[in-house]
Amino acid sequence: MKNTSINILMVCLGNICRSPLAEGILKSKLDSNKYSVDSAGTANYHQGKSPDPRSIAVAKKNGLDISKQQAQQFEVEHFEMFDFIFVMDLENYYNVLELASSEAEKSKVQLILNESFPNGNAEVPDPYYGGDAGFDHVYSLLEAACQKIANRI
Ligand code: 4NP
Repeated sequence: MKNTSINILMVCLGNICRSPLAEGILKSKLDSNKYSVDSAGTANYHQGKSPDPRSIAVAKKNGLDISKQQAQQFEVEHFEMFDFIFVMDLENYYNVLELASSEAEKSKVQLILNESFPNGNAEVPDPYYGGDAGFDHVYSLLEAACQKIANRI
């Protein structure tokens, strides 16, 4: 992670489908000298792996290359390293909150779709077991949410 002024972490379960897309989309909207964007999964199933080929494909279709990313597991150290921690669904939310050791750490964690639908507590659906259309849907949800984030931070 670079020593930029604002550090943002995207979190899902496996860190191969949703959060790599969120990382790639938000990165494309921010000045890399001022912001860093990374991603992680609450599970360690896919540690060290590239994003799912379907996420790589939908990103490519939209002009983004996320193929060089490597999955990592969320760790307690991330609370200190990052200013904002955006999670994709409620399961991620509770799993990350469980690891927080202060109210300040908890306050960094938020559902990413609350950017688009304030207080709606909507979830980015897990597209892993579905078809390609699920990845297009996830992409459009994340594109809109990341635009809101980029506009406000
Ligand atoms: P992600 O999707 O959390 O968006 O990366 C998943 C990837 C892998 C699995 C589940 C969800 N899995 O069970 O292996």
